[in-house]
Amino acid sequence: MFKINENYLKLPGSYLFSTIAKKVNAYSEANPDADIIRLGIGDVTLPLADAVIKRMHEAVDEMADKSTFKGYAPDLGYLFLRETIVENDFKARGCDISVDEIFISDGAKSDSGNIGDIFDVDNKIAVTDPVYPVYVDTNAMAGRTGVYNPDTEMWSNVIYMPCVKENNFIPEFPKETPDIIYLCFPNNPTGTTIPKDNLQEWVDYALKNKAVIIYDAAYEAYISSENVVHSIYECEGAKECAIEIRSFSKNAGFTGTRLGYTVVPKDLKCNGTSLNSLWARRHGTKFNGAPYIIQAAGAAVYSEEGKKQTREQIAYYMNNASIIREGLKNAGYEVFGGVDAPYIWLKTPDKMTSWDFFDYLLEELNIVGTPGSGFGPSGEGYFRLTAFGSLENTKRAVDRIVNK
Ligand SMILES: Cc1ncc(COP(=O)(O)O)c(C=O)c1O
Repeated sequence: MFKINENYLKLPGSYLFSTIAKKVNAYSEANPDADIIRLGIGDVTLPLADAVIKRMHEAVDEMADKSTFKGYAPDLGYLFLRETIVENDFKARGCDISVDEIFISDGAKSDSGNIGDIFDVDNKIAVTDPVYPVYVDTNAMAGRTGVYNPDTEMWSNVIYMPCVKENNFIPEFPKETPDIIYLCFPNNPTGTTIPKDNLQEWVDYALKNKAVIIYDAAYEAYISSENVVHSIYECEGAKECAIEIRSFSKNAGFTGTRLGYTVVPKDLKCNGTSLNSLWARRHGTKFNGAPYIIQAAGAAVYSEEGKKQTREQIAYYMNNASIIREGLKNAGYEVFGGVDAPYIWLKTPDKMTSWDFFDYLLEELNIVGTPGSGFGPSGEGYFRLTAFGSLENTKRAVDRIVNK
C-alpha cells in the first residue's frame, strides 16, 4: 500500500492569506456597499514596463517563425539573460560571479522552497521571526522541522531568531548553532534591512560555523540607503557560504509572468562537494526551463529603457511607502520599514493583538492589511501594510487612518 509524505500532515492549518480572504469576503458579503481598500497582499499593481512588453511581443513573433522558434531552454537559462544578469547585478557592484553560477528559474518562491532538495534532512535551520512562510513550510514538508506546537506556533527543530524593534529587526546570533540560515533583506514582512557591517558579521559567522546562508534578495531593487548591500556577495567570503535568490517579481512586476534566478557559487562546498553541481543536477532533472518569451522579456529589464522604466515603477511604489510611513507617524503610530522596501511594519496601538487590529481596520475603516502574527510569533503586536496599491488608494487609506 502506498504511503503519503506524512510531514504534510504536520503543517498548521490554513495559510495566512486564505484566512484573510475568508474574513474579507464574509465582511463584504455582510456589507456590500463597503469601499474596501486592500493593502494586504504583496502583489504589484502596475503593468509591465513598455520596454519589457515590446521585447515580449517580439519574442512571441520569433516563436511563430521556423527560423527563430525556440524549444526547450538551456538548463541554466539562456546565456543572453545570464550574461546581462552577471554584468548588471554583480560585476557592476564589484561581485565576481560568473554565468555558470546563475540558474534561471520561474521565481524566488520555487527556488527558496526547492533549494532544500540539495541538503540532508538532518540539518538544523534558523529563520528570522517573523519570516516569509515558505522557508519554514518547505522545510516542514521535507521533515526537517520536528513537531509543530500550535500554542507557541513554533516547530521543535527550528531555531527562531526574533526580529523586533528592540534589536532594530536585525537577527542576533542564536544560542544553538544552525546549519542552514535563511536571511531575507530587505525583509518581508518587516520592510527593514540590515547594514552591510551586520551582514558581514553573519557571513563571518556562517564561515566560522560551517553553515550555509540562503539569502533572499527579492526586494533588493528597493534599496536606497547607502550602507546596505544589494547582493550578499558584496560581503567578503560570501561566495564560500551563501546562496542568493533573486526575483523579477518586485523589481519589474513579473509576479504573474514568473522569472527569477538563484546564484550558487562554485566556491561553496561541503566536504569538497560543490553545491553548484548539486543544484545544476537538481535543476536539470526537475525543471525544464523558464519560457524563452519570458527570459527575453527579463533581459529587457536590463536595457537602458527597461532600467529607466522599472526604476520609475519602484519610485511610484516607494512614494506610496513614504505616504503611508509619514501619514501613520503623524497619526501617532510607531512605524518601521518603508525606506528600503515596499512594506510598512507598524506597532499595533494600545497593545492590540495583530488580529484585533486587522478586524479594527477592516470593520471601522474598510482597510485590509496583514496581521504580523501570521508571519511568526515575534510578529504579534505588529501589522504590515504594503505600498503596492495605487497612489489614489494609498492616499485614501492613509486619510481614513489619520482622520479616525
Ligand atoms: C521574501 C520573498 N521571497 C520570494 C517571494 C516570491 O517571489 P517570486 O514571485 O519570484 O516567486 C516573495 C513574494 O512575496 C517574497 O516576499
